[in-house]
Amino acid sequence: MGFFSSFFTKEIAIDLGTANTIIVHKDKTIVDQPSIIAINRNTGEVEACGTKALMMEGRTPEHIKVIRPLKDGVIADFQATELMIINFLKIMNNQSKDLFPPALKMVVCIPSGITEVEERAVRDSSEQAGAKEIRLIHEPMAAAIGMGLNVLEPTGNMVVDIGGGTSEIAVIALGGIINDKSIRTAGDEFTEDIMRYMKSVHHLEIGRRTAEEAKISVGAAIKDLDEIPEPYIVKGNDLVTGTPKAVQITHFEMVDALNESIQLVENAVMSALEQTPAQLSADIYETGIHLAGGGALLRGLDKRLHKSTGLPIFIGEDPLRAVARGTSQALKDFSYPFLKK
Ligand SMILES: Nc1ncnc2c1ncn2[C@@H]1O[C@H](COP(=O)(O)OP(=O)(O)OP(=O)(O)O)[C@@H](O)[C@H]1O
Ligand SMILES: [Mg+2]
Repeated sequence: MGFFSSFFTKEIAIDLGTANTIIVHKDKTIVDQPSIIAINRNTGEVEACGTKALMMEGRTPEHIKVIRPLKDGVIADFQATELMIINFLKIMNNQSKDLFPPALKMVVCIPSGITEVEERAVRDSSEQAGAKEIRLIHEPMAAAIGMGLNVLEPTGNMVVDIGGGTSEIAVIALGGIINDKSIRTAGDEFTEDIMRYMKSVHHLEIGRRTAEEAKISVGAAIKDLDEIPEPYIVKGNDLVTGTPKAVQITHFEMVDALNESIQLVENAVMSALEQTPAQLSADIYETGIHLAGGGALLRGLDKRLHKSTGLPIFIGEDPLRAVARGTSQALKDFSYPFLKK
């Protein structure tokens, strides 16, 4: 890269996730924040973005609207997405000492089940945010690269990325996705399962953040865990008396609460395996299944998948950042076969 282009061009990778947005520049994570934005209804101005907006959720006065612009892994609110990307890039620019705003060369990660229209929306938002050159990469491909798999070689690998909005299952070989399956059951649905469970079993109404904290603290996919987490105290509103109440829950209850959704993920994995061509199945028998995304951290999920598939299951290092790492590696060469112009 020439002197001028390196001076005025900034290469960035974005994992625009339903739950978290991660921006990487020169292999360094510059932004890792929840995909949330708070907008003033009266002025239309951005009140807060990311973690600050998350703190506001469920506690806002009438004139502030907290938006999660992505739903099920795709853009549900175009304008809010654009504002969010622009604000995150501002955080990045404030950290650097550029005299002029640089032209951005971007790779943005998209879910594999995305439609043409949704894809267009991602491109438009990135352009509005200052991108001059854009490539898109499918999420499971980025996850595979981020987990250190050699996606260009002729051996098949299976990747399961359980994010906030979507669970994506893909078989990858020779730089392409051979077959994939994307379902809209993932971490956010697990959180909602816990909210529903607390309501029906304990008559307790709880906030989304409380449910997510419970999931992270005691959530589990199987009852016979190797390491049992301490019981967790969930606080909310008693639906009978209408007053604040606390209930102690264990991982046993979480398995019941999450069972149906986990079953859906399991079914999707089984059906992806069934649709895999024989030669690649033979590879996957050896290479196993690689888990990425925040959902990979759910206790006992690897053991449960091992039991249902009979295959070795690997959890990538730092699974929440695997996709961002892979997206960032894709920046190195825009001629990679897996990048979409
Ligand atoms: N330790 C944990 N145990 C269980 N779930 C977790 C844990 N940590 C994070 N999660 C969940 O992982 C999800 C976020 O994962 P991730 O950041 O991979 O999603 P995303 O990339 O934003 O979403 P998507 O890829 O669907 O657009 C959230 O639902 C979060 O609650
Ligand atoms: Mg993701």
